[in-house]
Amino acid sequence: MSRVSSAPGRVNLLGEHVDHQQGTVLPVAIHLRTTVRYTPGEAWEISSEGHERGGSWERYVRAVIGEAGEAAEPGRLEISSAVPEGAGLASSAALEVAVAGALLPDLPSLEVARLCRRAENERVGVPCGLMDQVAAACAIARHAVVLDCASETFFHLPLPEMEMLLFDTGVRRALGDTAYADRVREASTPGTPAARHVAEERARVDRAITCLDRGDSKGLGDLMYECHASLRDLYRCSFDEADTLVERLAVTPGVLGARLVGAGWGGSVLALVERATRLHGGAVVVSDDGLTVQE
Ligand code: GLA
Repeated sequence: MSRVSSAPGRVNLLGEHVDHQQGTVLPVAIHLRTTVRYTPGEAWEISSEGHERGGSWERYVRAVIGEAGEAAEPGRLEISSAVPEGAGLASSAALEVAVAGALLPDLPSLEVARLCRRAENERVGVPCGLMDQVAAACAIARHAVVLDCASETFFHLPLPEMEMLLFDTGVRRALGDTAYADRVREASTPGTPAARHVAEERARVDRAITCLDRGDSKGLGDLMYECHASLRDLYRCSFDEADTLVERLAVTPGVLGARLVGAGWGGSVLALVERATRLHGGAVVVSDDGLTVQE
């Protein structure tokens, strides 16, 4: 008997590069998902639609299988994903969580997230925090996950009236090939620009939670611009295409806020916009009326 499991990509409202420093983050699931069909069998047989065997995607699958250990029975894993890779939307976590969900259907969602993070940290070698895996395993529609990475506890807060548009810069990167690990080290060293980003971003997250409580989408938008400037100047993970896009969005009617989303060094810009605002090149990823359209 086959089992099907799926998990979404994410954007993050605020709290970029604070999860690995035990801060609080505010990810939101998007409608793009990765789906895995698992059929028990004699041996592992892994395939991903549109991907060559042995590509880097397979390392994440093998890492989850390894981390699951004896709890996972061999079988066929057929993967298909609508989450673009290297676009800052946490495609690896969606893949990990979808695989773990298919293999270990009885494991509680937070445990699935923890297992997948361990797999990525220890078996893929990326020192990521817990944000992406919790977003993929525990998010609910039109809510931010308020995840405290120190206590590893979370709750959901409804989003205010607004929509989220995603602009793909077209610049691609794989986390392992970026300065991600270097910056994680810098961020843990007091007095460095990266550590300053983390301290200020943590304060922004507190303010963002107040905005969510009050339904203040304009306030949230302002914090996003501040976050982008800090990612550019202090954390140094932005790039020209993202900076230019954010500058242009900042002077566009209907836009409440915009910033680079995800790890950086490539990927997408997220814009918060007034309801029903449509902008050239922007894909709706979280819509106020609950639609899950992509244009
Ligand atoms: C990547 C990592 C996350 C987080 C973000 C930046 O997505 O996987 O753990 O650190 O970058 O906020």
